[in-house]
Amino acid sequence: MPNPPARSPYRPDLLAGKQFLVTGGGTGLGRALAGHLVAHGANVHLWGRREAVLAEAAEEAGSARPGSVHFQPVDVRQHDSVDAAMAAIWAEHGPLSGVVNNAAANFIAQSKDLSPRAFETVTGTVMNGSFHTTLAAGKRWIADGLPGSVVSTLTTWVWTGSAFVLPSAMAKAAVHSMTMSLAVEWARYGIRVNAVAPGPIPTEYAWAMLNPTDSSGIGATQVGQIPAGRAGTVEELANLTMFLLSDACGYLTGQTIAMDGGQMLAGPGTFAGLTALSETDWAEVKRSSMAVTAA
Ligand code: HXC
Repeated sequence: MPNPPARSPYRPDLLAGKQFLVTGGGTGLGRALAGHLVAHGANVHLWGRREAVLAEAAEEAGSARPGSVHFQPVDVRQHDSVDAAMAAIWAEHGPLSGVVNNAAANFIAQSKDLSPRAFETVTGTVMNGSFHTTLAAGKRWIADGLPGSVVSTLTTWVWTGSAFVLPSAMAKAAVHSMTMSLAVEWARYGIRVNAVAPGPIPTEYAWAMLNPTDSSGIGATQVGQIPAGRAGTVEELANLTMFLLSDACGYLTGQTIAMDGGQMLAGPGTFAGLTALSETDWAEVKRSSMAVTAA
C-alpha cells in the first residue's frame, strides 16, 4: 500500500470558529496535529513542559494564520497546574471546543528493571495527565452547558498489552477505560469522548526512543509485520483526529479507533506471517496442501 497523497479530504473551514487544546503539543504528533487544525480553521492551544519548544511549535503551526496558536508551559501530571491553565484559557480566550490528550512519556525497558519513579513518570503523564486535562475541560463544559469533544491518542496496546513498555501499556489501557466510562456519563451533556489508536507512525522522538537499534526509521522487520506494508503517516492520524473532533460525527462516542494498517489483527495466532509469501510460495502451498488432502 503506497503512502497516500498528503492532501486533506476536508473543507478548509471544517473546524472554523472552534478552538482546541493539544497536550504534548511541542513535539511529534501533537505539533503536527496543531498545524492541521489551524489549516482547517481552528485556533489551537499547546501545552507541554518546555516553553522554548512550545514557542517554536506555536510559530510553526500558526504560520499560516498568525495569532491562531497559543501556548502555556504545563506539566499535565500536576493537577493544580492543569486546572489553573485551563481556567486561564477560559478567561482569556473563551471555552474550548475540544481537547486532544496527546502528551505521552515512554521508553523501552525490561519491566524487572523499572524503578518506582520510572513507572510513575510514564503513568503520571499518560493516565493522570489525561484524567486531569479531561476533567478540567469537562467540568467547565458541564457548568457552562456547552458541548465538547475529547480525543485521546492511545495505541493498540490497549487491547493487547505490550512487553517492554509496560507502564505505557497500562496507562493507555486506563485512558481507554476512561474513554468508555466518560462517554456514558457525559453523553447527556453533549460531550463526546473518543480515542485514536495508531500503529507505528514515524516521528523523530518516538523512533529514537522506541527503536533504539534502528534510529534511521522503521525497521524492516516491523514493516513486514504490518499487512498494509508500511507505517502510518501523520496526515492520516490528523485526518482521523479532526473527524472525531468535528461536528461530522455527533453520534460517535466511547470508541477507541485503531489506525494501524491491520497490524493488531495480524498478531500472533493468526496466519499474518504468510503475507511474506511469493506467488511461487503460494503455488507450493497449494501443491502440498492438495497432496495432504489426496493422501
Ligand atoms: C529505564 C528510565 C529510562 C529508560 C528514564 N528512566 N528513562 N528507566 N530506562 N530509558 C527513569 C529514570 O531513571 C527516572 O527514575 C525516571 O524514569 C524519570 O526519569 P527523568 O529523566 O527524571 O524524567 P523526565 O525528565 O520527566 O523524562 C521522562 C521520560 C522522557 C519519559 C523519561 O523520555 C520524556 O520526557 N519523554 C517525553 C516524550 C515521550 O516519551 N513521548 C513518547 C512518545 S512514543 P529514577 O528511579 O532513576 O529516578 C509513545 C508510543 C509510540 O508514546 C507507539 C508506537 C506504536
